[in-house]
Amino acid sequence: MLSLLVILLAAASSAAPPPPSPSEAPAAPVPAGSGWEPLVEQFTELPPTPPEPSTQPPEPGCRPCSPARCPRAASECRHGAGLAADPCGCCPHGVCGLPEGARCYNASSGDADLADRALGVCGDNMDCLPRSDLGATERTETQCVCREVGSVCGSDNTTYASACQLKPERPADNKDEPAVKVWLRYRGPCRSAPRIVTPPAPVSHVLGSPVSLECEVKGNPAPFASWERISKDGIATPLPSDDASLVMMVRGGPEPFMATSWLQIVALREHDVGAYICVATNSEGSARAAAEVSILPSSG
Ligand SMILES: *[C@@H]1O[C@H](CO)[C@@H](O)[C@H](O)[C@H]1NC(C)=O
Ligand SMILES: *[C@@H]1O[C@H](CO)[C@@H](O)[C@H](O)[C@H]1NC(C)=O
Repeated sequence: MLSLLVILLAAASSAAPPPPSPSEAPAAPVPAGSGWEPLVEQFTELPPTPPEPSTQPPEPGCRPCSPARCPRAASECRHGAGLAADPCGCCPHGVCGLPEGARCYNASSGDADLADRALGVCGDNMDCLPRSDLGATERTETQCVCREVGSVCGSDNTTYASACQLKPERPADNKDEPAVKVWLRYRGPCRSAPRIVTPPAPVSHVLGSPVSLECEVKGNPAPFASWERISKDGIATPLPSDDASLVMMVRGGPEPFMATSWLQIVALREHDVGAYICVATNSEGSARAAAEVSILPSSG
């Protein structure tokens, strides 16, 4: 009897060889730092014919079954990818689904890939498919691929590369923080009010010189960038108005969701002095940035 206990104790402390099926598994995990007594208690609760099972190897490709580590609900899953049926038949509620891009096990790949079972299976709305970026290798690697392509805007106003990267429920990294929940706001990248990426710079020039102002704006949808002048006496005029000596040019870019606008004063006059405002506008709002245009006394 003592030698049996010793064997059982050794088995328990290495926490390795599992019972063959969840129904025969011990219900509770071994409490941390437990000594002899809790162990004896636990083992005396076992059925009269103790299972040889702990010495039985797990199914090919599977890790030893440890039901205490099985998730009970999708909210316990760190990747927020939901629960998926356990390919190793250990966890009654399933295992945490793998996130997009993770290596995975595809049950329909046949016996050859049984050894991959411990990798786990993909989470909600994903398939486990061969990687397309690998050459004709002997053994293709499979990875989780989102069924729906295209970026989405999450409830945290962040753009995600695919809907599968949202986290409907996920425990926080830190126990003191609330659980993370990011759901789909809408398909496509998040819309955002414009932002002035490069504001116009102030210019001072001699009368008669050409003057140029530049402004880069960003937003989604890409904003339109226009100009306004506030003269010395405080009068605001949208430009170019009817002024034949002003040239306005607007171009998309240089990056996605950006636009660039230039305002040129063909030859600087007294009349042109004032604050020039770059105004970026889209459906989500507007943004402004100003630069002074002044006259430099000619050094003659
Ligand atoms: C397994 O692979 C096949 C074909 O490669 C695919 O049609 C199927 O959806 C995959 N199964 C899972 C669960 O991803
Ligand atoms: C996201 O943006 C919307 C509107 O732009 C706003 O009402 C909401 O509070 C924002 N949510 C977060 C988490 O920033």
